[in-house]
Amino acid sequence: MPLIQMRTVYLKLSLNFTAFGRWIASVAAIAVLVITSPALSAAIPPEPASTALQLEAMLGRMTLPEKLGQLTLEWGGRINDTNPQIAQSKTEELHTLIREGKIGAFLGAHGAAYTNELQKIAVEGSRLGIPLLFGNDVIHGYNTIFPIPLAEACTWSPELVEAAAAAAAAEARASGTRWTFAPMVDIARDPRWGRVAEGSGEDPYLGSVMAAARVRGFQGDDPFAADKVLACAKHYVAYGAAEGGRDYNTVDLSRRTLREIYLPPFQAAVEAGVGSIMSAFNEINGVPATANRFALTDVLRGEWNFDGFVVSDYNSVGELVPHGYADSPARAAALAILAGVDMDMCSKTYSAHLQEMTQDGTVSDSVINEAVRRVLRSKLRIGLFQQPYADPAVEASLRSSQAHQELALSLARSSIVLLKNEGNLLPLRTDLRTLAVIGPLADDTKNPHGTWAGIGAGAAAVTVLEAIKARVSPETSVRFVKGCDLAGVHEDDITGAVAVASKADAVVLVVGEPESYSGEAHCRTNLQLPGTQLDLVKGVHRTGVPTIVVLMNGRPLSVAWTAEHVPALVEAWHLGAQSGNAVADVLFGKFNPAGKLAITIPRNVGQVPIYYNHKNTGRPPSEDRWTSKYLDTPWTPLFPFGFGLSYTEFAYSDLRISPLEADMDDNLVLSATIRNKGDRAGHEVVQLYFRDIVASITRPVKELKGFRRIWLEPGQATRVEFSLPVHRLGFYNSRSEYVVEPGRFKVWIGPNSVNGLEGALTVQRR
Ligand code: BGC
Repeated sequence: MPLIQMRTVYLKLSLNFTAFGRWIASVAAIAVLVITSPALSAAIPPEPASTALQLEAMLGRMTLPEKLGQLTLEWGGRINDTNPQIAQSKTEELHTLIREGKIGAFLGAHGAAYTNELQKIAVEGSRLGIPLLFGNDVIHGYNTIFPIPLAEACTWSPELVEAAAAAAAAEARASGTRWTFAPMVDIARDPRWGRVAEGSGEDPYLGSVMAAARVRGFQGDDPFAADKVLACAKHYVAYGAAEGGRDYNTVDLSRRTLREIYLPPFQAAVEAGVGSIMSAFNEINGVPATANRFALTDVLRGEWNFDGFVVSDYNSVGELVPHGYADSPARAAALAILAGVDMDMCSKTYSAHLQEMTQDGTVSDSVINEAVRRVLRSKLRIGLFQQPYADPAVEASLRSSQAHQELALSLARSSIVLLKNEGNLLPLRTDLRTLAVIGPLADDTKNPHGTWAGIGAGAAAVTVLEAIKARVSPETSVRFVKGCDLAGVHEDDITGAVAVASKADAVVLVVGEPESYSGEAHCRTNLQLPGTQLDLVKGVHRTGVPTIVVLMNGRPLSVAWTAEHVPALVEAWHLGAQSGNAVADVLFGKFNPAGKLAITIPRNVGQVPIYYNHKNTGRPPSEDRWTSKYLDTPWTPLFPFGFGLSYTEFAYSDLRISPLEADMDDNLVLSATIRNKGDRAGHEVVQLYFRDIVASITRPVKELKGFRRIWLEPGQATRVEFSLPVHRLGFYNSRSEYVVEPGRFKVWIGPNSVNGLEGALTVQRR
């Protein structure tokens, strides 16, 4: 039966019943159709008119507690208790709440069987039969663990990043998840903040491209598709600007910085069609993000026309009280919903207090209805009513997918950034006599998964040791010593490690951070290698044996000593399931590294915050003493944004800019020739930067405006062309208007944020 006919049946049925009966009949009609012809349910999203009709029909039948239920998200994981009676009574309590329609969404419920069990109670056992929305943090993979998002951003490949999100969506969806709390699109300029690992780094343009790619990957074009999930851009907004890099901390910044740095990735996510947004924990200039009407309503809905729903972060509504913004949980609930937070995550303030807040007139019925409408509209849009259940057969088929593992390897290899390669020490030969593999992360199966890895993190990640052994010649002797612990000082065997290193032809030394050193509430004031790892590096270095240091970490680490002394340095991040294979493919040259830093690496923590798109100041750093710099450390970073080496060399030439004198509505065409000068094929990420030299508001020394990842065979050259409307050269003036001001602009096309061909153009007054 075609969908149109199905709707006719639904409407006809509706006309013959009383209000309540009509509702039940309509739900039953949909349910029957789903059960008898599952294939029918997919494909066509409902037309807006019928969605609106269904929505209003539902709303009209709902009691206030049922409405508040749709605005309530609770923890719904399996209840385990050593006392089976307690577990059972808590489980029954949860089931009762579902049956009474008092919960509309869950987090923490995984697996087709379990989610189906809860869903059945909602669909068949509750008065209105509205299906539950199961949300989970699918941050960088579900069964298949991909690199942490910060690493993925270093690929500068939206195609790969989109593919990873799509694979994660398919796996999660098969296990009952219909909604992911991702992508995390917070710009982060402070590596002390543990959540840098979850985002795409420091740049608003790169961050926006990655945000849109992930939304496309998770949601696809067809919200009804059986392998997609609803995405949620988080944490709205400016969460990454926490003072001191301390999680949940105060944010105080100008509206301009908010608009130019922190808002763009959210806007990109909205433009890519993201279905939901999560409000952040932090305050912004005195008003908590979760009660910030300016951000949640004026900008999000007023300026960007976002029509999905907003969910709070975990208990962030309740936290309006300790923020000192609400005097009670009831008032917190009212402030949040009035500001534009539609769904409460786990503070229980909506379910407990919004009834009294409507009764005393603080919150009107129309505010509640609008929030419910947004939630239900999303449930309708993703086909939850037609397909409320997960299919255990699909779940089983995706529990371990070879195709997804191959994709994870592809992402992992492309995420690696080669930071130093003196004397072309890399790539290594596979037939060395003795290769020492040393370090606490060299044979670690857990930490390389990284923070907030999915269900698949229970399985072992491929280690560097294992992957090296699989690649060397049968004659090569691979000697492994851990050398020291990853953190703390428990199992030091630096002497043993040095002894093994001294007899080897080369050393691969794998050091870094445990996965638990980054992520939520995992901030550091020290960006060095934890524990005694630096002593290990120094000890091995003293042997004089050629040493390659591989870093596995969730944030930029200040490895100034290492970068200065060891000949080769590889930034591998936490790369997920295929970590070892990816690193070994780079070490032996099976894969030519092409990653570029999505975030600046500081020399030491005292330089933080440090980012490439800073202002020039009135006294830009120079040899002169009285300029903006430090006495004890150069002002430049250890490695700049956009930086990354290759086993080949790319030469940039012949920058062309057209027109050189542009009008406001012109389109600029900027191009350069890139030649592969070496004898290996490889990818290069060609980057386009601009600087507005003089403006009514001082502008950053450089701003990324475009990039292109290209592939060149040895000796091959290509022209890379960027097309950019002059409109993109603007900024927010003192009246908060977006303007392009006439004048001179510098332009660079280059391999990173420091080097490149330089040119200039003029934008003329209209
Ligand atoms: C985090 C969010 C996450 C949520 C649900 C919060 O503590 O800040 O990023 O999505 O928990 O797990």
